[in-house]
Amino acid sequence: MSADRKRTFALAITGASGALYAVRTMAALLERECHLELVISDYGRRLLHDELGEDAAVARLRDFLVAKYGDAASRGSYTVLSNKDLGATIASGSHDCEAMVIVPCSMKTLAGVAHGLSRNLIERAADVMLKEKRRLVLVPREAPMSLPQLKNLVLCAEAGAMILPAMPAFYQMPKTLDDLADFMAGKILSALGFDQTLYPKWEG
Ligand SMILES: Cc1cc2nc3c(=O)[nH]c(=O)nc-3n(C[C@H](O)[C@H](O)[C@H](O)COP(=O)(O)O)c2cc1C
Repeated sequence: MSADRKRTFALAITGASGALYAVRTMAALLERECHLELVISDYGRRLLHDELGEDAAVARLRDFLVAKYGDAASRGSYTVLSNKDLGATIASGSHDCEAMVIVPCSMKTLAGVAHGLSRNLIERAADVMLKEKRRLVLVPREAPMSLPQLKNLVLCAEAGAMILPAMPAFYQMPKTLDDLADFMAGKILSALGFDQTLYPKWEG
């Protein structure tokens, strides 16, 4: 990779609860001057709206991120891809996309990834990450989980995905929902190889 090329990641948002994790992760990657290939499922859009309000509409996401996290969130760039477009950049392994995060990851999308269905761009891009042996981070959220859901997590882990459940910790003494989102985004950044400072490291 040339030194001046931005690190490029696929970021997918699906219809599980936890839209705050998605926007915090997006802002953190943009703060690090990354380029994001962003795909949001129909229910991902709905959850952005239901959990974060009108201002988090996809067309206004950059303004939303800057208002919430500051100007640094405009350092990077992103392209919004249609989940229906199986001919988009990240549908091919030849595209320069080094890793993918699905945050939050619904049980439906998890099932699609586990079984290699490629029914939409999110599932296809995840399949590409697995076949190319690139980092795929899944942030599932459901409670409780059925046996098929648990088996799908195992299938994805066996195929090489990192399962990073939406399970924020409490040892960092969170005071706000944003503290919990910082923790999850920090974990995701670490999984992508960044030295993160979103939550304090455990000092023992
Ligand atoms: C308000 C709301 C909350 C939901 N929360 C979850 C959830 O936490 N986990 C999950 O797996 N599905 C959840 N769902 C169901 C998914 O959105 C649904 O299965 C959808 O088909 C997922 O599609 P997608 O993976 O293409 O986004 C929720 C749906 C709604 C409307």
